[in-house]
Amino acid sequence: MSLKINVANLTEVQAVAELARLSDILACANSAYHTEDAPVMTDGDFDALKLLNSEIEHKFPHLKRSDSLSGMIGAKAKDGFKKINHEVRMLSLENAFTAIDVEEFVNRVKKFLGIPHTQILNLSAEPKIDGLSLAVRYENGVFVHAVTRGDGEVGEDVTANAKTISDIPLTIENAPEVIEVRGEVYMSHLDFEELNVRQIASGQKAFSNPRNAAAGSLRQLDPTITKSRPLGFFAYAWGALSEPLSDTQTGAVARLKKLGFSTNPLFQSFASTRAVINHYHRIETDRASLGYDIDGVVYKVDSLALQDRLGLRSTTPRWAIAHKFPAELAWTKLLDIDIQVGRTGALSPVARLRPVTVGGVVVSNATLHNEDYIAGRDSKGAKIRGGKDIRLSDWVQIYRAGDVIPKISDVDLKRRSKTSVPFNFQNKLIAEGIEGRRSPGDAVWRYSGESLLDDLTIESLKHFVSRQAFDIESLGAKQAEQFYLRGWVSTPADIFMLKKRYGPGQPQQLKNLEGWGVKSAEKLFDAIDEKRVIPLNRLIYALGIRHVGEAGAKLLAARFLTWNAFETAMREAHAGSSSWEALVEIDGIGEVMAKSVVMPFQDPKKFTAIAALVHELDILDAVPVDTLSSPVAGKIVVFTGTLEKMTRSEAKACAEKLGAKVSGSVSVKTDILIAGSGAGSKAKKAIALGIETLDEDGWLALVGGL
Ligand code: IVH
Repeated sequence: MSLKINVANLTEVQAVAELARLSDILACANSAYHTEDAPVMTDGDFDALKLLNSEIEHKFPHLKRSDSLSGMIGAKAKDGFKKINHEVRMLSLENAFTAIDVEEFVNRVKKFLGIPHTQILNLSAEPKIDGLSLAVRYENGVFVHAVTRGDGEVGEDVTANAKTISDIPLTIENAPEVIEVRGEVYMSHLDFEELNVRQIASGQKAFSNPRNAAAGSLRQLDPTITKSRPLGFFAYAWGALSEPLSDTQTGAVARLKKLGFSTNPLFQSFASTRAVINHYHRIETDRASLGYDIDGVVYKVDSLALQDRLGLRSTTPRWAIAHKFPAELAWTKLLDIDIQVGRTGALSPVARLRPVTVGGVVVSNATLHNEDYIAGRDSKGAKIRGGKDIRLSDWVQIYRAGDVIPKISDVDLKRRSKTSVPFNFQNKLIAEGIEGRRSPGDAVWRYSGESLLDDLTIESLKHFVSRQAFDIESLGAKQAEQFYLRGWVSTPADIFMLKKRYGPGQPQQLKNLEGWGVKSAEKLFDAIDEKRVIPLNRLIYALGIRHVGEAGAKLLAARFLTWNAFETAMREAHAGSSSWEALVEIDGIGEVMAKSVVMPFQDPKKFTAIAALVHELDILDAVPVDTLSSPVAGKIVVFTGTLEKMTRSEAKACAEKLGAKVSGSVSVKTDILIAGSGAGSKAKKAIALGIETLDEDGWLALVGGL
């Protein structure tokens, strides 16, 4: 790539030619990156070309082309969209696969609310659109911005693109002063097929399904491309609101329709579980003729007051569930079984398949979980797939449900070769030269050797720098690997030492490494420094502790609030200790996760690495969002006796929402005891310890009648 142009000496004629050349290259690279997801140049090269383009434009403003990409300058192509915080989190949905799951959901809701089984609970039911969710904000009836879901807390600003979607009005009348309408962007089957014909005709890759096509089209940096790809939008929910839309889901959806949004014609509400399930079957029958993809039916508690009482878990609401359609199936041949070494050392078998289309997506790998799964047994030894084992060269049935990794649901024994033998996991490990061990009671083989340590460390470093973790600009998986292989970085703390060790004035310098220069090295050091300030939950997630995903990390951060409190508790948490109790009492953290979190804090080598990292950081305390003005934030409360106005689960969820920590037992650390009727020994103990004791009404008065 020739960048050696001296802009100062450029003549006007040369500038015209140069701007034309740059425009072609940049447009091509941009489209390769965003449309095909197949970059043709590095981010650094792209930025350098954009800079050159803008320098020429600066010298010859009158030559600036109408298709100039310089508007994007400053915003890196990779994250070319502005980030916007969601005022109200965008959640996902719990899944149900059978009518029994749905009944259990209804029972759980009734139990939480403390209403009898026999009492009617109105539910709405509507198709689950297989697209991508979008939040569109209006202020005083005018479209302000549109944001993708992102990680639920921060999304991408796709305003310019959303404005090209005809189902999304630019102005609305008789609307609340502030209203954020949420719904699903999708592409119809017809438009999807037409788009793919055009893609292929212009030498571009076809999209594998309408959802990918819709996502690719909405996430275009150039809104004219979005405009040329028709997208639809069904409104089904809302975020920020200055006044309620209605008192039921049905009423609110009707109001959205009145405001000018498309709502799904199959939306209906029902008074019994049987009726919603009948509606599910009707929608399932109509599925093929709807003209757009749906992957299930969403049920929501119709009363908005009840939705409010039911509240939210960390990533899903308690008042809604998605009843998914059965997964799509296809048969293909199992070509091989590979062993992958996971970040935490688990040796996971992966099926390599003859590529096959399942529900519009080409599948060539499927998960095989573990040794027992291949042998046709679950972790308790019970038969799965009727006890059929999986052997090399078998014909296997693949299924895909939504986004999950494809799985093998059946084996065709009639097509099995007479000479085939059961798959031997241990022999496979030996053949691959992988040292592994399976401990009694563990379903998983784990890496036990040294020779692969490199892979494990690289994997955990890649996790550490990943988007949901430290997300350091220009330090991705590739660079992490490069630094590791050079011996520059072997623990996360080393990343924060890079500048000191390999920055200006040092004998070895990053700027001299292949692929780096003065500017890019400086940029990386700055980007690393920027991430020294990190929210507690992100840090916990970044540590890459087994079983601790983003949701788990958030729960831990919300419970312990500061790194010191978290670290101390993890170091002290031994079975039976109060720190251990505090950990397992967190709603959403089971014993398995608890054991896993504690482990690195009690392993001297791992803890040393964590301590070295923490020394480099400025960790932001977690602030429970709802609790800034809460009178019980950070207090330890205990409920005892029978509550009359809400169930124990509801009271606990309410207290946690307000930032209180709910404990099961009274101790000197308890701040408030809420004694319902019939309270016994706990109440006596609280009085003896001089702990503030409230009755249910006193508690409700304190927390504002919630
Ligand atoms: S309600 C708080 N209704 O499914 C719950 N979601 O798997 C808000 N989706 O993130 C979602 N159709 O993107 C709702 N009729 C529908 C939906 C729907 C599709 C999507 C949505 C959500 C995802 C969860």
